[in-house]
Amino acid sequence: MPTLRERLHQAAATLEAAGVAGPLREAEALLARRLGRDRAWLYAHPEAALTDAEAAGWEAWVRRRAAGEPPQYIAGAAEFYGREFRVTPAVLIPRPETELLVAAVLERVAAEAAARIVDVGTGSGCIAITLALERPRARVSGVDRSAAALAVARENAERLGARVDFAAGDWLAPAAGPFDVIASNPPYVSEAELPALAREVREHEPRAALIAGPHGDEVYRRLIPQAAARLRPGGWLALELGYQSAEQVRPLLAAPEWDEVEFRRDAQGWERVATARRIFPEGIAPPGSCAAP
Ligand SMILES: C[S@@+](CC[C@H](N)C(=O)[O-])C[C@H]1O[C@@H](n2cnc3c(N)ncnc32)[C@H](O)[C@@H]1O
Repeated sequence: MPTLRERLHQAAATLEAAGVAGPLREAEALLARRLGRDRAWLYAHPEAALTDAEAAGWEAWVRRRAAGEPPQYIAGAAEFYGREFRVTPAVLIPRPETELLVAAVLERVAAEAAARIVDVGTGSGCIAITLALERPRARVSGVDRSAAALAVARENAERLGARVDFAAGDWLAPAAGPFDVIASNPPYVSEAELPALAREVREHEPRAALIAGPHGDEVYRRLIPQAAARLRPGGWLALELGYQSAEQVRPLLAAPEWDEVEFRRDAQGWERVATARRIFPEGIAPPGSCAAP
């Protein structure tokens, strides 16, 4: 009977032959997940023997990984902002750059604020749920057109103990407002870019979560004017950007409805988050300012 260490090296060889980067680490992560242990336990028990059922289940996972399936779909879980979210192929796998979007929103919503927040294109619910947990007095909602995605988001909210109202619909159509914050990580890949995406993404993640249309800016063009109509004066729009979307979004946020426009860069230097403030119409003073009588 092979030991755990021997099995791990066999699995790593299978993954390496399939071109998976970091094959031993991936094999360990899948095995730890399968056994309900952490990787430290694997290191502490290199001579352990797996039961037939454990070995068969894990080997099936290794074959799926070797065939290119993302590990998060295989394990059914992904980490986001320090919490574990359930993911299925109905939802985008939450990305680290989306944590930048969440951080930008949290900087703009005071800890005790009873802000009204909507996350548009909520997918797994990772943005809406994180905001609801980090800002417990906020009233948070999430919208998605996909019923299957909303089922995952609702399950995540329940499991993580977050109060979020989810609704099905087209962008902001089911969300009346007015909102203090509209946040979105919308689809921003153009049809022409699709073949250049990593195979793992292209073949496994939902098209509706990735592709915006022929040019990539179609959703921004719809969402930004809709958001201007649903934000209260002084409210914030926060958008995740594709790594080359900033030049498409900048002119849209130059419209007279927007102020305090800011682009935030990721660790690679790409502008990945845009925030903008809905202007106060003439005669309405920002809170705390000395308005003339
Ligand atoms: C890029 S994913 C973002 C998912 C999640 N918010 C995240 O950051 O991981 C975009 C989401 O928009 C949803 N979507 C696509 N078209 C939509 C539409 N017309 N109205 C509402 N949601 C839509 C997709 O189903 C998908 O869940």
